[in-house]
Formats: sequence, structure tokens, C-alpha cells
Amino acid sequence: MAVTLHTLAEMKQRQEKFSCLTAYDATFAHTVSSSGVDVILVGDSLGMVLQGQSSTVPVSLADMVYHTRGVAAGNQGALLMVDMPFMSYSTLPQALESAATLMRAGAQMVKLEGDEWMADSIAALSERGVPTCAHLGLTPQFVHKLGGYKVQGRDEAAAEKMLQSACALDQAGADVILLECVPSSLAQKITAAVRAPVIGIGAGPDTDGQVLVLHDMLGITPGRRPRFVKDFLQEGGSIAGAIAAYVAAVKAGHFPAPEHGFKG
Ligand code: KIV
Repeated sequence: MAVTLHTLAEMKQRQEKFSCLTAYDATFAHTVSSSGVDVILVGDSLGMVLQGQSSTVPVSLADMVYHTRGVAAGNQGALLMVDMPFMSYSTLPQALESAATLMRAGAQMVKLEGDEWMADSIAALSERGVPTCAHLGLTPQFVHKLGGYKVQGRDEAAAEKMLQSACALDQAGADVILLECVPSSLAQKITAAVRAPVIGIGAGPDTDGQVLVLHDMLGITPGRRPRFVKDFLQEGGSIAGAIAAYVAAVKAGHFPAPEHGFKG
């Protein structure tokens, strides 16, 4: 049966963990969704993973449309979330136009990086039938403002601000909240405080769901492996086996383990 927003809300209620992985083409979308993953993310990480860029900033709306079409064609019932790329939602009219373009390409939810400044856009999208995910914490489109890919919300003031932003975006109508690279204790607090299901990456074991970049969890991303990534290909033996092992580990609460998280 197809995964919907209601499925995720019910899973949060039942305290049942859900899994999310990136996919950027029809073949991987087919494998990922057939292996039990609940949510597929067409992430703008494709700028780094597929295009070899040093950040997600150069990714265009046309790139996202191209990859969303492929993923939608291969998807076997996972909820299909798509990133709004850098500066494609900086004003309300732009956010509505970009979201419409992605929804027409096959997105079932759009993801926006930022904090309280996105509340009006999230409310307007929600009122017009566009499900949204608000991405907080380490927001890669802000890498040049953040001064690198660093854990966010470590000091008390930053943690309090992130909690407030998550609550404001939850109230504005965000259907999902995604937390990237935040201390596990802060992610636990935010997950308990908001109505929306929370997906974590480098955010510890207490979020409602987990996401990883597919190429990272297959261990094929060049360079140093981030702390929050586990290579599932080693234990899974094949691509489908690795994905099934990831889904099982998330559902059982075995991934992420304490060593994959960050302290405040
Ligand atoms: O673009 C992406 O793949 C993401 C994940 C890292 C959450 O935003």
C-alpha cells in the first residue's frame, strides 16, 4: 500500500520508526521502494553525489525536475519528497511557483531548508494542497553562512532557537520536520514537542524516522565517511540487501547507535 502523510502520522502515534533514503533515478527508486523504505527523498545532495559539485548551491530547479520525473517513474509506493533547490523559495510567489513545478513533475511533498522565515510559505503551500517538510539544523544550502558542514544547536541559545523554530513551523503547517546534525538530546526534545513526524540524520535515535544518502549507506561515497553514516552494504551483501538491512535496523531501533550521534 502507498505510504502517505497519514501513514507517517500514525507511525509517530504508534511510536513506530520509519525509514527514508535518497534516490535520484528510476532504477534506484524501484529498488529502494521495493525494499521497504517508507519515504524517498530526491535530495539536492544530487549536486554533490551525481554532479560532483562541492555543495548543493549550484543545483537548479530544472535538475530537480529531471530527477524527480525519473524517481516518480520507478517508485513503488514510497512517499516521494523532493528538495526545493537553493533560492527557489526565497519569496512567497517563488515558493508557490517552484513547488507547483516540482509537484507537476511527481513530488508528493517538498522540502525547504531554513527556520521561522519560512512559516508564511509553509502555511501558504499547506493551504494550497502542497505537503511540506521543514529542514532545520545543518542546512547544506547555507554552508557559506554556516562556515562549513558543522553540528548545529550545540550551545543553549542555539538549541532554544531551534526548538522555537521547529514549533513555529509545526504550527504553520509543516507536515514533516527534518533535523540534520544536531545533538541527540536536542532532537529528542524537538521530536517530543512537535505534532509533525520528525526525520533525523545525525540527530540520534529518538526522532520518528531516519534518513541517509543512499550512496553513503552503500559505502561508495568518496572521501571520509561522516560519523552518522553506517555502511550497510557490508552486512547486506547486495544493494537490495543493504537497503533491507537499513530498514530493519531503523525499525528495530538499532540504527543509529550511540556512536552515530552528537553530544550537545
Ligand atoms: O539533499 C539531501 O539528500 C538531504 C539529506 C541529507 C537529508 O537533504
